[in-house]
Amino acid sequence: MERYINLKRALGQKYFIIKDEMKPEKNSDFERKRALMIEIYKELKNCRKCPLHKTRTKFVIGAGNVDADVVFIGEAPGRNEDLQGLPFVGRAGNLLSKYLNEIGLSREDVFITNIVKCRPPGNRDPLEEEINACFPYLTRQLDIIAPKIIVTLGRYSLSALLGREVKIMKERGTIIDFNGIMLLPMLHPAAVLRNGGLNDKMRDDFMLLKEVISR
Ligand code: URA
Ligand code: SF4
Repeated sequence: MERYINLKRALGQKYFIIKDEMKPEKNSDFERKRALMIEIYKELKNCRKCPLHKTRTKFVIGAGNVDADVVFIGEAPGRNEDLQGLPFVGRAGNLLSKYLNEIGLSREDVFITNIVKCRPPGNRDPLEEEINACFPYLTRQLDIIAPKIIVTLGRYSLSALLGREVKIMKERGTIIDFNGIMLLPMLHPAAVLRNGGLNDKMRDDFMLLKEVISR
């Protein structure tokens, strides 16, 4: 029961309710994408591909609109996310919501997920083998959603996506081609919480996102 409620919260019960207002073609696409995402959800439930399954409370598939134009990719679930099974629900998540709201978006307009779906113990960084084990789930999610723009949050997710070392302060706020999709690297909101001086850069990057969305 708990998991079912979680699934509805994560994958947009809301969009079932308002579906009559959606365009028919958008509608069927949404149902198809949602069904594919639920397949992944079921696989994650039983996933033991890396040791993180042993210490997790709940896995975190992500949350939002499975037909979104924008996908945000963080690093890994933290303590609150592990308890609730939802992404970015702590202080960093509140800051992310605030920045989204500032450009006229809500969390239901976008899809938010992470590089690894289970919490690394004590919030340590995910290991390379954990990232590799979990990565196919993310690529499948991106294939399903087929977003216009991917936003990575922090150095780890950018590095994992590009498969190379990155300098986040240099690459944030630029547009990178990622297999034909626009990739906009941003700072991790937790880093902005630690260093308030980074708020200006975060705001600049969200303004760029707003501009790119409307292109
Ligand atoms: N930090 C992340 O990278 N992801 C979350 O889901 C929460 C905090
Ligand atoms: Fe499976 Fe990913 Fe969780 Fe590892 S982190 S157990 S690969 S879902």
